[in-house]
Amino acid sequence: MDPNNSNRAVASGLDGVVVADTHLSDVDGELGQLIIAGHSVEELAGRIPFEEVCALLWSGDGAASARAATLKTALGKARCLAYEQLGNLGDALSRNDGMDALRAAMAHLRPTSELASSDAKELAEEEFVVAAMAVFAAAWSRQQAGQPPVAPDPSLGHAADYLRMVRGDKADAPAVDGLGAYLVTVSDHGMNASTFTARVVASTGSDLVSAVVAALGALKGPLHGGAPGPVLDMLDEIGSQERATSWLEAELLAGHRIMGMGHRIYRVRDPRALVLERAIEKLERGGQTRSSNRLQLARAVEQAAEGVLRTRYPNRPLHANVEFYTAVLLDALGLPRALFSPTFAVGRVAGWCAHVREQRATGRLIRPGSRYVGPRLRLEPVQA
Ligand code: COA
Repeated sequence: MDPNNSNRAVASGLDGVVVADTHLSDVDGELGQLIIAGHSVEELAGRIPFEEVCALLWSGDGAASARAATLKTALGKARCLAYEQLGNLGDALSRNDGMDALRAAMAHLRPTSELASSDAKELAEEEFVVAAMAVFAAAWSRQQAGQPPVAPDPSLGHAADYLRMVRGDKADAPAVDGLGAYLVTVSDHGMNASTFTARVVASTGSDLVSAVVAALGALKGPLHGGAPGPVLDMLDEIGSQERATSWLEAELLAGHRIMGMGHRIYRVRDPRALVLERAIEKLERGGQTRSSNRLQLARAVEQAAEGVLRTRYPNRPLHANVEFYTAVLLDALGLPRALFSPTFAVGRVAGWCAHVREQRATGRLIRPGSRYVGPRLRLEPVQA
């Protein structure tokens, strides 16, 4: 026994530590493969709507098709109920940072059991939470632009309605497909930091909203979900292919990280980068992108970044991660860059909900140890 862990090595960053069995997703960092609910991400993205990946994650393969059939209607109703709660959010949506606003707004979410409407009572808690994330993110974005919120259209799919609530007009099919591919791609990704956070909260017996609010806090950080806005800033600053290498070298010299590059698990290119690149190409073929040379620039910058990172870290493979092409895709869809991280949350919340359910089923509190390296002191005896 080592009661103080004094002889144990600290697993810094929990590298290589396995904390759960999961049916939800699998990340193979060596081969660059992502499996979501049994299917490769390449197979799912662009093929199934967001509702269906929710059904796969929440109900498992066997029951997924029955759940998916009802989920479009249920999420539509849930978005309408969430919209009714906009008036109860205080000043949450007036915060300038989208993730701060979303975290504050989601913290106000009341459980469906407390809502008077009979629609609410029929909803599963996951449905309400997923719907609210989209409604609140869209309403925040509109408020930032000085525009009133757009009420949900329950007849639309989740991706189509999110785009509509953000942009104010009904999106066409290629744009809806593009956003759908994105939401499916980011719906789950192993034991990433925000998912682990949600599971820790769930393991204490706490409620889903608390787990999701905590997960939003983790997702906000630039090392996790906060990178796509800065990736677009980087592409804008670089401006042209010829400037890429010198700009990136200067960035490294200044001690900055290159946003959208590197990953804790992947030692090869993040497979989601390719899936999103294909979604952008598809939009371009449909003439849908607002600035079609941005993809070309992004590819050149990615190549240059690989080069400068290889020179700087010859033993550490650093390639593009999901955020690199997220920036290009969401921009092409007309979403403002401040909404990129909140939109990540609109997709990832599907996985958080599934992990909370899976963690609850284990009934086991997550409570790792630590090694005390501080002093052991004694207070001076109290003088009589
Ligand atoms: N740009 C520059 N250097 C990078 C880098 C990047 N994008 N990613 C890693 N490195 C460097 C680190 O600075 C570190 O160097 P050091 O040993 O001199 O300190 C080395 O590579 C190892 O990095 P480490 O911090 O151990 O990697 P990690 O597994 O903890 O980091 C990320 C993974 C994602 C946090 C990291 O790659 C990163 O910060 N990327 C940029 C942010 C980003 O794109 N986030 C979205 C992730 S999906």
